[in-house]
Amino acid sequence: MERNLILAFESSCDETSVAVVEDGKTILSNIVATQIKSHQRFGGVVPEVASRHHIEQITACIDLALSEAQVTYDDLSAVAVTYGPGLVGALLIGVTAAKTVAYAHQLPLIPVNHMAGHIYAARYVAPIEFPALALLVSGGHTELVYLAEPGQFEIIGETRDDAAGEAYDKIGRVLGINYPAGKEVDRLAHLGKDNFHFPRAMDKDDSFDFSFSGLKSAFINTVHHADQIGETLNREDLAASFQQAVVDVLADKTVRALKAFPVKQLILAGGVAANQGLRDRLTTELTQFPDVTFLKAPIKLCGDNAAMIGAAGYVSYQLNQFGDAGLNADPSLEFDWLETTQANA
Ligand code: KG4
Ligand code: ZN
Repeated sequence: MERNLILAFESSCDETSVAVVEDGKTILSNIVATQIKSHQRFGGVVPEVASRHHIEQITACIDLALSEAQVTYDDLSAVAVTYGPGLVGALLIGVTAAKTVAYAHQLPLIPVNHMAGHIYAARYVAPIEFPALALLVSGGHTELVYLAEPGQFEIIGETRDDAAGEAYDKIGRVLGINYPAGKEVDRLAHLGKDNFHFPRAMDKDDSFDFSFSGLKSAFINTVHHADQIGETLNREDLAASFQQAVVDVLADKTVRALKAFPVKQLILAGGVAANQGLRDRLTTELTQFPDVTFLKAPIKLCGDNAAMIGAAGYVSYQLNQFGDAGLNADPSLEFDWLETTQANA
């Protein structure tokens, strides 16, 4: 029987990743070369440094992905690649590598939206059931996405300023935590209490949008004020109070969306989906919706990786949605808005 093997590429930010995925649901290899150490001393990702690392790593990642999966180019059915959103110079490395492999080995090329990839990381737990709602929380994005059917992604709400992960990274910096700070803030949060009662922006309004910059500023002002008067605040309580505010807003908006859009499944995906407080809270909230199953991306696939691109790419493969040699990186690629939501907003 013919095997459906996709060679997938991800290079939108600071991870160079190449994977081999079978039938969109089995990971044969998922090589992730992280650059985090190179960016840490700058407190965030430096685009030019990221591109250079991608160039250095990509061919070694391809070789490793193929050898670990025990396949050759001849066994492949297609090549999938993230073409946006992300850093343009970083995206271009993956796109160029994927186009080269597709051209040299006469394979179809599948362009994949990075955010669709994040959603499809959950496919490795169970099949996606439609219609579904996805809460996508990453370093660059925070959005609620409606999935009417395979291959359709429509935004019903998004952050109006900072993404949730970005807010984690910025307040983490104030606490002296290295970039990316989310995981460590999450750990500290479990040791503290919500004593600071930071604001929950837009929590009660009717839209499905989020805002995290007010929370971030309130946090930073609280810490700076304490510094000025020589007071030391409890770090665990600060982290717990920040996390509680983020989780409250994300959970409340998700519940509001589940009430407005009857779906079969809630998908939690993106780097911040690894957050234990958020996973626990949504699990509790979902007891209100006995007909909705909760599909969480596996923790090790929440961050950027090519296996998720292979899973999303397989859907396009089945729908015959292919790109060609003219494929370019699209740094500000976005899903469309669901029309009814935009009209109501
Ligand atoms: O999806 P991702 O790997 O990259 C983007 O596409 O942006 O997300 C990275 C983000 C970072 O901001 C990081 O701090 C955050 O995910 N993150 C977390 C946790 N683990 C990673 N945020 C909160 N809690 C976590 N456990
Ligand atoms: Zn990402």
